[in-house]
Amino acid sequence: MSRVYNFSAGPAAVPIEVLQQAQSEMLDWKGSGMSVMEMSHRGKDFISIAEKAEADVRELMAIPDNYKVMFLQGGATTQFSMVPMNLLQGKTKACYVNTGAWSKKAIKEAKIHCDVQLSASSEDDNFTSIPAVDSWDIDSDAAYLHYTSNETIGGVEFQDVPDVGGLDLVADMSSNILSRAVDVSKFGVIYAGGQKNMGPSGIALTIVRDDLIGNVKAGSPTMMDYKNHADAGSMFNTPATYSWYLMGLVFEWIKENGGVAGIEARNVRKAEKLYAAIDGSDFYANPVQISSRSRMNIPFTLANSELEGAFLADSKAAGLVTLKGHRSVGGMRASVYNAMPEEGVDALISMMAEFERTKA
Ligand SMILES: Cc1ncc(COP(=O)(O)O)c(C=O)c1O
Repeated sequence: MSRVYNFSAGPAAVPIEVLQQAQSEMLDWKGSGMSVMEMSHRGKDFISIAEKAEADVRELMAIPDNYKVMFLQGGATTQFSMVPMNLLQGKTKACYVNTGAWSKKAIKEAKIHCDVQLSASSEDDNFTSIPAVDSWDIDSDAAYLHYTSNETIGGVEFQDVPDVGGLDLVADMSSNILSRAVDVSKFGVIYAGGQKNMGPSGIALTIVRDDLIGNVKAGSPTMMDYKNHADAGSMFNTPATYSWYLMGLVFEWIKENGGVAGIEARNVRKAEKLYAAIDGSDFYANPVQISSRSRMNIPFTLANSELEGAFLADSKAAGLVTLKGHRSVGGMRASVYNAMPEEGVDALISMMAEFERTKA
């Protein structure tokens, strides 16, 4: 068996220890005689898996008791709709910050349900920065303010939670959840698809403050109402059981690796050395303003774009895969989520230096 270093933006690398544990438990989960994917979600074995996953993520993120933690289907994209449907609560306006491709998708979906006030946008600088919070145009009558804490495609990340006065803050943390410490009590809603920092796709972790639940827009489908999922412990319908189980294994792995603080320290080291390699060369470049750079998704271009094919071929030969940038921005992108070991980043940096030495 030969494993590669997978720099994919998502679905993305999963810690090897998690995969090995899932493998060892595949046919017979802890003496149950069956795989987790064969279990009833109502049986005591799966309930214990589900409850442990929730308890672990509550501990890891220090989620206060007045928040519900839900394991929902439909990916982060479904949250683009569920957020306005549940949080408008009779209001007609919501504030959105546009920092890139994922913000834009959230905004487009919100416009189906309400007026969107664009509080800030970095579109004019081609999404290479986070607009200064004191310049944001915030309407205190809006139901909430939504932002994307890490733009997976542009590689732009908020370094702090913005202070938006009294408005409920909603964050799409799909591509940086559990990679750095955040104070959950500052948010109304946090949501994230699983397939970057929490394991497999098919499940979205959704954390909602209690008082925002129970007032869904009239006429909404039952599956879009947070209350139905919250009341049923995320088992209103059959949940994505295997994805939930794997997510739980990832939470255990984070706990064993120093919790969010330990993982964050490693993420800082990984990102710093990769940016240093890019900035220290005239051959590679990253367009993002230094203070807005993502620790998770690091796009970079080559001085000569005609060498991109050769770069991808050489990197693949070195066991470093999925480095091609998103089709909308081109170039390269290294996604270095929690599961990417430091050795993977070191290997990429060495390969980049060698490529520059021989091809520049
Ligand atoms: C920041 C961000 N938001 C939302 C999504 C959409 O997630 P999903 O495909 O789970 O609906 C993605 C997926 O890549 C993302 O990176």
